Amino acid sequence: MKDFKSNTARRDFLKMAALSSLPLVVPGTGLLKPKESYAQDDDRSVNFVYDGTTDFLDPERYIKKLLKVNATANIQPDFYGLGGTTQRLEREFAKITGKEKAIYLPSGTMANQLAIRLLNDGRTKAMVPENSHIYRDEADSAQAVHNMRLIALGKDKDYFDLKELKASIAYHKSGEYIDSGLGTVVIENPVRRANGAIVPLDELKAISKYCRNEGYRLHLDGARLHIASAYTGVDIAEYAALFDTVYISLYKYLNAAGGAMLCGDASVIDKVGSYIKILGGTAFQSWTNTAMALHYLNGIDDRWKEVVRSGNTLISELNKSDQVSLTKVKNGSNLYGLKLTNTDFAKLQRSLSSDYNMMLAGPDGNRVIRFAINESLLHRDLDTIINAWETCLKAAKA
Ligand SMILES: Cc1ncc(COP(=O)(O)O)c(C=O)c1O
Repeated sequence: MKDFKSNTARRDFLKMAALSSLPLVVPGTGLLKPKESYAQDDDRSVNFVYDGTTDFLDPERYIKKLLKVNATANIQPDFYGLGGTTQRLEREFAKITGKEKAIYLPSGTMANQLAIRLLNDGRTKAMVPENSHIYRDEADSAQAVHNMRLIALGKDKDYFDLKELKASIAYHKSGEYIDSGLGTVVIENPVRRANGAIVPLDELKAISKYCRNEGYRLHLDGARLHIASAYTGVDIAEYAALFDTVYISLYKYLNAAGGAMLCGDASVIDKVGSYIKILGGTAFQSWTNTAMALHYLNGIDDRWKEVVRSGNTLISELNKSDQVSLTKVKNGSNLYGLKLTNTDFAKLQRSLSSDYNMMLAGPDGNRVIRFAINESLLHRDLDTIINAWETCLKAAKA
C-alpha cells in the first residue's frame, strides 16, 4: 500500500472528470471517434473515472439504453412514485437489504436527512462521521431544515470506532445541562472522502451492538454499498441487518440519471412519502431513473465479482510497467491512485481515448490520477484492455 492518500473532494473529482473528457472533444467535429471498429460502440466504452458506466454523459446514449432495456423488461410508468417499475425496484431493494420496505427518493441527500429525522423521533442529536457526505456535503440540511444537531466523529480518520463513539456520548451526557437526547448514529460505507475505504465488518458489528443495547438508532449511508459488498464478500443484507435504515444510490454504479432508495422497517418507511411531499420532492414520474437502476441491479452480484477479479488482474498487469504505480488505501475498494513515471500524460490520455475508447481522469495537484474500477471493464475482453494500455504507455513514453 503506497501513497494514494490525498482526499478526493467532490470539486476535485468533478474537475478531474471534466479534464478527462476534454480530449474527447475536437472543436467543430464533435466527438473524436476511436479508431478501432470494436471501440466505436458505446456499450464497449471503458472508463477509469466513475463508479459506473458513462451512459449518463450523453442523453442520446441514455435514451438508447432505456429503449434497449424496454425491449426486454417492459418498463411501466409510475405516477407520483406509485406502481410500475418504481414499485418493482422498491420491492427488489427491500428484498436485497432484508428490510420490510423500501422507498424511492429523488436524492440521497433527502434519503439521509429524512432517515435521521425519522429515526431521531424528536431527539435532537445525531452522531455522524466527520468526513461523511451527510456532514460535509448536504448544505447543513440537518440544522437548516430538520432541527437536528450533527456531532462529527473521526476527524482525520477514515472512520470512527466504538471507543470514540462512547467517549463522545459520555462527554455530551455529562457536560450538557439539558439532555436533549442522542437519536441516531450514522455510518458511511464505503467512505467517499477516504478514497473508497471500507469500514471493517467487526467495527460495524461492535458499534451496532452497542447502539442497540443503549437504544440509539442506526442509519447507513451506503450510497455505494454494492461496491463494499463486492470487495469484502459481505452480503448487502448482512450489512443492512446492522442498521435500522439503509440508503443506496441509483446513480453511482446502477447508472440511473439520479435517485435514491431508502430501506427499513415499515414503521419508518411508511412515514417517508409525506415528508418527500412536504419538502417538494415528489416527482410526477420517476421511471426514467428506476428502470435503468432495475436493469443494472439484475445480476449485479455476479457481474461485480467479475469486475473485482478483472480489476485485480488489470492492476497487477499495469503495475508490471516501470511507467505505472497503482496503489490503494488500507481497506480500499475500487479506487486507486495512479502515478506515472517518464510518461507524457496528455498523450497517454488522448490515445487511450481516441484509439481505444477508454477514459482516464486528469491528475490532481499532487499529480495523482484517481483511477476507478467499475462495470465498464466488462464491456471488453480483459486482454484487449491490457494490450491497449501497453501500446498507449509505450507510445507515451517520455
Ligand atoms: C456517500 C454519499 N452519500 C450521499 C450522496 C448524496 O447523493 P445525492 O446526490 O443523490 O443527493 C452521495 C453523492 O455524491 C454520496 O457520495
